[in-house]
Amino acid sequence: MPDGPDYVVPKEELARYLAHEDVLDLSPVLFDNFQPDHCFVYPIHKNQYHPPLMRKLARDVFGMVEDMMEEVQHQGTAVLGMETSWTQRSVFVSIERLTAGAASAMVVGKELDNLIRWGNAMFLAGTITRVFPGLLRPIVGFLAIFPSRYYFSKFAACLQPKMNEKLVELQKAREAGGETDAAAANVLEGHLIEALSRNDPRELHLGLLAYRIIFFSTSAFQTMSAAATHLMFDLYSADPSLGVVETLRSEIEAALRLTDGRWTAQALSAMPRLESTIRESMRLSAFSTRGCSRKVISRNGYTTSKGEYIPYGGTVSIPQWSIHHDDTVYEEALSFRPFRFYDEKENTCVSLATTSENFLSFGHGKRVCPGRLYAAVTLKLVLAFVVMNYDVMPLVERPTGHWLGTNHGPPLKATLTVRRRITV
Ligand code: HEM
Repeated sequence: MPDGPDYVVPKEELARYLAHEDVLDLSPVLFDNFQPDHCFVYPIHKNQYHPPLMRKLARDVFGMVEDMMEEVQHQGTAVLGMETSWTQRSVFVSIERLTAGAASAMVVGKELDNLIRWGNAMFLAGTITRVFPGLLRPIVGFLAIFPSRYYFSKFAACLQPKMNEKLVELQKAREAGGETDAAAANVLEGHLIEALSRNDPRELHLGLLAYRIIFFSTSAFQTMSAAATHLMFDLYSADPSLGVVETLRSEIEAALRLTDGRWTAQALSAMPRLESTIRESMRLSAFSTRGCSRKVISRNGYTTSKGEYIPYGGTVSIPQWSIHHDDTVYEEALSFRPFRFYDEKENTCVSLATTSENFLSFGHGKRVCPGRLYAAVTLKLVLAFVVMNYDVMPLVERPTGHWLGTNHGPPLKATLTVRRRITV
């Protein structure tokens, strides 16, 4: 498909263009970033089962909360430390480990480093490959993926025995007439159950499965670590006299009293201010300036309601950054107001996973991010862990993010000064 021009259209066009799925598609936009034809070792993009798998995991994630929190606590303590004196920590590096641990909870174990390295190497390979003209991409891609091939082979070697064992167990259960739609206890099981349900032996290839898992965990942790890093800087740059952190601590303590201290879905649902804080940061510091990008896949092009013609290969999106920062949509839109989405009377919050033409961080419409519930749970656990276990020195000024094309990445080098709380 040709690389066509970029069109940013008013949000009033959104519902109309999202309804034309046969003309405008999300997949080529994603493939533009990853260059899977040239940079993937296994062609998982040709037979994608991420969206249905995600929907299943979104249902099952509530049963994984305790394990995910255990992983967050384990990784979080390793990177943020136990020191009760003030210490500077690189936020992005710490948060990347925390979210990667949660995203792959119970699957990756000591292979977490290779997962993170693979994710970064794969992203770089796609970025390098796509700047070359189409004819050169197969050669550039072949060379660019050497580092990611190496990390993947280490990752897969470690994961395969575990996968094999679980696969045999699940196959036996199926043959014995067990439940075919059983809830997955973790991400690994989710993938294996989905692969078995395809009734296609090629889907059970262990290398392919490991590739699906590494790609899943990476797409999950890279987006979540960007969001969580922005969140840390938004929260700890807020005026300390507002007592946001103290309010969150009280809410978390009260919620945990309902569940005898257990990190469960019920406990998380009793933390509406926590949810609001995350939603507000994702509104204010969204890392994409464009929302709902779709590529024109019809050779006849696409014509907007105003009669503007967008050719085959062109990209259509709406101005997410401007919408999220528009005072007529959000009062004092440029301010971080953590409890903006919290309804004090009802003690509820607009769910983090709810999207609209005014909240586009997870996209919108039929192709809305299928991992958003998973992300919501992870981000709540990460934020709760930091708030409950660490004192963080408030920042006088919020460090600015870095711009990568039209994306607003989190500050990668900025630090926070933290100390382990003694009271916990
Ligand atoms: C804060 C974290 C995340 C953000 C901000 C985010 C954002 C997005 C956005 C904007 C889209 C495109 C939707 C559209 O244009 O309508 C998307 C798609 C997608 N996301 Fe996420 N995402 C996040 C976390 C996750 C997680 C944790 C997973 C996996 C567990 C995931 C898996 C996917 C997949 C598979 C798609 C493609 C869906 C399709 O092809 O139809 N995302 N995400």
